[in-house]
Amino acid sequence: MSPEGEPVTTTTSGAMTGEQMIALTKRHTLFEWTAQGKVDPIPVARAKGAYFWTPEGQRYLDFNSQLMCVNAGHGDERIVRAIQEQAATLAYASPHVATEARARLGAKLAEIAPGDIETFFFTNGGADANENAIRIARLVTGRHKILARYRSYHGGTAGSLTLTGDPRRWAAEPGIPGVVHVLDPYHGLERGWDTADEALARLEEVIQLEGAQTIAAFILEPVTGTNGVLVPPDGYLQGVRELCTRHGILMIADEVMSGFGRTGEWFAVDHWNVVPDLICMAKGLTSSYVQLGAVGLRPPLVRHFQDHVYYGGLTYNSHPLACAAALAAIRVYEEDDLVGNARRMGEKMKAKLADLAARHPSVGAARSIGLFGMVELTRNRRTKEPMAPFNGTSPEMTALARFFREAGFFTFTRWHTFFTNPPLSITEAELDEGFAIIDRALEATTDGAVEG
Ligand SMILES: Cc1ncc(COP(=O)(O)O)c(C=O)c1O
Repeated sequence: MSPEGEPVTTTTSGAMTGEQMIALTKRHTLFEWTAQGKVDPIPVARAKGAYFWTPEGQRYLDFNSQLMCVNAGHGDERIVRAIQEQAATLAYASPHVATEARARLGAKLAEIAPGDIETFFFTNGGADANENAIRIARLVTGRHKILARYRSYHGGTAGSLTLTGDPRRWAAEPGIPGVVHVLDPYHGLERGWDTADEALARLEEVIQLEGAQTIAAFILEPVTGTNGVLVPPDGYLQGVRELCTRHGILMIADEVMSGFGRTGEWFAVDHWNVVPDLICMAKGLTSSYVQLGAVGLRPPLVRHFQDHVYYGGLTYNSHPLACAAALAAIRVYEEDDLVGNARRMGEKMKAKLADLAARHPSVGAARSIGLFGMVELTRNRRTKEPMAPFNGTSPEMTALARFFREAGFFTFTRWHTFFTNPPLSITEAELDEGFAIIDRALEATTDGAVEG
């Protein structure tokens, strides 16, 4: 800390006010997934731990790890130093050469990845990890169809957006050929959950109707992210694994959001001891200090490419800065036992979510696993009508988002839901601070709208 009590590792040039930042950003850059006229960004100057600040010094508690990705917390000096040192030594190298950062990261990931996965293809982020995973599956199996689920997000590129089941897919249709969507075990607040057996029976029926021999892979988020922190019923993932094996279909786990401790295990599949054939990661891989994604492959798939060409490549494949950032982030997870902290703080968060559900009539459902949490709001406790329509918003949800912002609380609100995904380094006091704001926000903005 500096003499003024300011964190020393975060820097601001100090040259721009928040207003200037917003004006230039809006004029010269496009924001994603939104009409530009509606954009109202927070200007962010610096960040430390679970907080970030505007240039004028307004503080926000980051209850979403930005985009569910800064798992180690902001401004960790160990990660910053590793990036600086790598930049000074070797900032970039062609994907056709070997580097120490790449070598070490591959070996480290082999240690923590599920089961016998010990080989990785590096990408720029999650979407292209998924693109490469489905290409690998198609090349290895010689089949073309890919099964994906409706309540899913797999990324913003052509193939990954086709895999995506939620409405972000619609504007990109018709997308790539061969993708078939299946229903999830969860059907929304009003319809509720299937049992594992029911969900697996639906899946098996689709496999039969599509023709197992035409299906290369089934891609799924083991714990679904933006579509609702959907923790599958016990037995579901094991059943998916068994069905895939029985039909020669490769199982692809998209752990872009659920990986690197978010759920209280290194990877979400570890909760059910399931080893997918391919695993995709990004976000927490580097704690998002530098962009990086990866696809992990099981040995039989790796063997296929010993004498078959892998038709895939990226200029920034195995980027040394990103590999160094990932190594440092993993070291931080280990040194600070952040996966254990996600488990411990996750138990506390689960109790706090249950408490919200008990006291606020507008809480229709609250779920979490580790520090991966979300709340679904309802305007009717009996019918479970959501507080905003599917893919829409409502005055109450707009008021809730405004309350959060004015209270210095940053999270992701979507449709009738909001998320509780703080950095894995969060303390109990910081959790208390966040939930106290949520408590006031629900009372002020959504509880009054509840009927029934
Ligand atoms: C489960 C999942 N897969 C893929 C992606 C896409 O990752 P990226 O935005 O790094 O391309 C995301 C991003 O939120 C995600 O949550």
